[in-house]
Amino acid sequence: MQIDKIRNVAILGAGAMGHGIAQVFAQAGYDTIIRDVKQEFLDNAILKIGASLDFLVSKKSITPEEKEAILTKRIRTTLDTRAAVGDAQLVIEAVPELLDLKRKIFREVSAMAPEDAILATNTSTMSITDIAGAVALPGRFVGLHFFNPVTKMKLVEIIRGEHTENQCMDVMTAVVQKIKKVPVSVLKDAPGFIVNRINAPNQALMNAILDEGKIRPDEIDTTMKRMGIPMGPFELADFVGIDVFCHTLEYYAEKLSPDYKPGKVLHELMASGRLGMKSGQGIYKWNGEKAMIDSSKPSTDISPKEFLAIQLNEAIKVFKEGIARSTQEIDQAVVHGMRAFAGPFALCAGMTPAQMTEPLTQLQKRFKLDIFTPEPELVDGSFKKFSTN
Ligand code: 3HC
Repeated sequence: MQIDKIRNVAILGAGAMGHGIAQVFAQAGYDTIIRDVKQEFLDNAILKIGASLDFLVSKKSITPEEKEAILTKRIRTTLDTRAAVGDAQLVIEAVPELLDLKRKIFREVSAMAPEDAILATNTSTMSITDIAGAVALPGRFVGLHFFNPVTKMKLVEIIRGEHTENQCMDVMTAVVQKIKKVPVSVLKDAPGFIVNRINAPNQALMNAILDEGKIRPDEIDTTMKRMGIPMGPFELADFVGIDVFCHTLEYYAEKLSPDYKPGKVLHELMASGRLGMKSGQGIYKWNGEKAMIDSSKPSTDISPKEFLAIQLNEAIKVFKEGIARSTQEIDQAVVHGMRAFAGPFALCAGMTPAQMTEPLTQLQKRFKLDIFTPEPELVDGSFKKFSTN
């Protein structure tokens, strides 16, 4: 498949990620069709895309005529998988993070889509190779990981499965550039890929903080936001969804370390349906898209220093495991996938090893989590000599 042959893009799943992906493709001129299992999901997706396009019209980023063309001509919806993928050159799956569901969908799609179509999954953590096991031609199967909210986050990780062909990676890189996003190649199919993996131990820390019950999430989020981070980590967990947060931790617990197991508080939130922004209540109460955070008292206990040390330690593992091409690309992925002003390697370049290892050792003792053990290259500072390009 060549880049200029790609005209029709099918998106499977009309949820938060699916409708955003459809919108950015339609805005870039692609004929886009969204497929879901219920008409109300599709109608809701169209409403949300309409509201987002209205915002762009109000900012004069697009004209009202362009909005109309995108909504009425470039985006269609369907309940029928064959109608969605039958003449698609690119199919992107964005259904819930359930391996069996994804494999079932791809088994069908593989039999219905044109033979040369590229099939992509927007999974945020799962093995591309495992999902690709369901399709006839795994060489044309790839991970295409968008960040939430899709219209506002620039990064797309392009993940190579064990059988993904070079040409498929190259075409996806060009497509991601065409939709005005920043592509970063993930060279190895490992849980969480680059950005989510780097954040994984911070999620384990949040889980431990919730169960310990000594520090309020508000306090940590307030401190983080005062450092210029767009959303505090607990606010972000609610924003993405407590269900997504929990499923991700369970996956890491199975694949990376039992330290990731979700604890009591997260289980309680799940059991009571407090799933974050989408249900109006999670770690916080939500008023529409705004979390009700008490920002009067910042945390003096755990602060951005701890979160940064954890992030750098995990970024070192990501580099050593050959998941990313360079430390520079890791930083670039963090900047564009989290709207951070710099990545962990750039932020820690001027720090001494002790400044990074001390917080890790203390956290390891306090929460009894081995995943915080400082990497040898952090202890001796040699991570600063890792390749940067
Ligand atoms: N199309 C294109 N661009 C749009 C747009 C649209 N429909 N709507 C808005 N934008 C642009 C705006 O013009 C603006 O661009 P600029 O920065 O160049 O001026 C940018 O998007 C931000 O828009 P807003 O000013 O409306 O956004 P806010 O300032 O209200 O911030 C936020 C909202 C972007 C959500 C911010 O709070 C944030 O960055 N939060 C962190 C989000 C994050 O970290 N996401 C990653 C989650 S993890 C994940 O997704 C992984 C997955 O696997 C679970």
